[in-house]
Amino acid sequence: MTDVRPTAAEAADTEALRETIAAELLAARARTAALTDCVEDHDLTAQHSPLMSPLVWDLAHVGNQEELWLLRNVGGRDPMHPEIDPLYDAFQHSRAERPGLPLLPPSEARVYAGDVRGRVLDLLSASPLEGAPLLDAGFAFGMIAQHEQQHDETMLITHQLRKGEPVLAAPPPPPAPTDAVGLPAEVLVPAGPFTMGTDIEPWALDNERPAHVVDLPAFRLDTTPVTNGAYLRFIADGGYDEPRWWTQEGWAHRQHAGLTAPLFWRHEDGQWLRRRFGVLEPVPLDEPVLHVSWYEADAYARWAGRRLPTEAEWEKAARHDPATDRSRRYPWGDESPGQEHANLGQRHLRPAPAGSYPAGRSPHGARQLMGDVWEWTASDFLPYPGFRAWPYKEYSEVFFGPEYKVLRGGSFAVAPVACRGTFRNWDYPIRRQIFSGFRTAADDPETD
Ligand code: AVJ
Ligand code: FE
Repeated sequence: MTDVRPTAAEAADTEALRETIAAELLAARARTAALTDCVEDHDLTAQHSPLMSPLVWDLAHVGNQEELWLLRNVGGRDPMHPEIDPLYDAFQHSRAERPGLPLLPPSEARVYAGDVRGRVLDLLSASPLEGAPLLDAGFAFGMIAQHEQQHDETMLITHQLRKGEPVLAAPPPPPAPTDAVGLPAEVLVPAGPFTMGTDIEPWALDNERPAHVVDLPAFRLDTTPVTNGAYLRFIADGGYDEPRWWTQEGWAHRQHAGLTAPLFWRHEDGQWLRRRFGVLEPVPLDEPVLHVSWYEADAYARWAGRRLPTEAEWEKAARHDPATDRSRRYPWGDESPGQEHANLGQRHLRPAPAGSYPAGRSPHGARQLMGDVWEWTASDFLPYPGFRAWPYKEYSEVFFGPEYKVLRGGSFAVAPVACRGTFRNWDYPIRRQIFSGFRTAADDPETD
């Protein structure tokens, strides 16, 4: 029989991977606890918006998915409480229905999620982290850490929708660097092929795969996301009252929903104010616009004589390094995000001023592609050529189609573990409770 004992170097790698996984699981749970310990039980069980689950549902759902994927599928364990599974299956009940379900009360939800976690850490310490597709490179553990962080962003959205006194606080992002004022408005991304998606990022989710070459004409892209100040010029110019800037569907929605400004904004005594996590404050002009729908972003772009970038354009601008012709993990290179690169991980409860994070710029000079605001793209959420659902169809495949638009880059509420140059998010074009903004693009006049 061959000797299958790991070499010392491999054992050290496995131990380092176990530590990384444990740290990611811990970070996710610390954030979940911070988002659920800061309010009374009635706020955890309340429906703050029909668009959102009660916070206590997210809490137990996170534990239930962790039990399902790690304890049952990876570990081969029996279900802990099979009777609760249907309550926490996102496909069985809409978010609006969830407050009416016999959910675990807050204390029991915490105990359940904690029990699952204790057993998962035991499983992790004994796991070879290889030898099965779900285990290789710790994929299932990474998927679960990302899943919890995604629900933490969802819970932060619920907090933003919640009425009442503020319960969350964080320091503001650093002021814009001095060169932010003189930045060119747009960057040029020259024509040519690039590699979109990935085969090598170990914790990339199924919709980011496989890597494939996409050839694009030259285009221009805004150096930064569109700011509140620029968006206010669209409003002041009557952009919300001018059907020619809107698609037919967008205009119908604007009329039906009575849209006049981004969500959470109000106009009072000649001043634009916004409500942000329970605080009413003047709209800061130099900050990327937040809480706009795809329809609003698309109308703004047309008003500005521009368009939204396609998803492929966005990814090329964020990843392609013309010096090496390689696609990077992030705009700044392959290193994991640090505090100097991007506004991620809910360190701040708002986007940073446009032009921030020069260390995070792309080779073409675009800033803030990662973090701050999710950026709407022109593209429908579709599979890449050669897509294979993994490990379940309900993560991506059931959502593919023209009803959903792709968002890229991640917001200030996205954790680094769930943020990559290849990461794809999607939502309905009417949605704007999410941390959504955008930047615009244009064909390159030189190459027309
Ligand atoms: C990728 C953000 C659209 O929240 O619906 C969470 C992530 N999938 N649980 C969502 C997700 C399963 C998903 N988004
Ligand atoms: Fe989920």
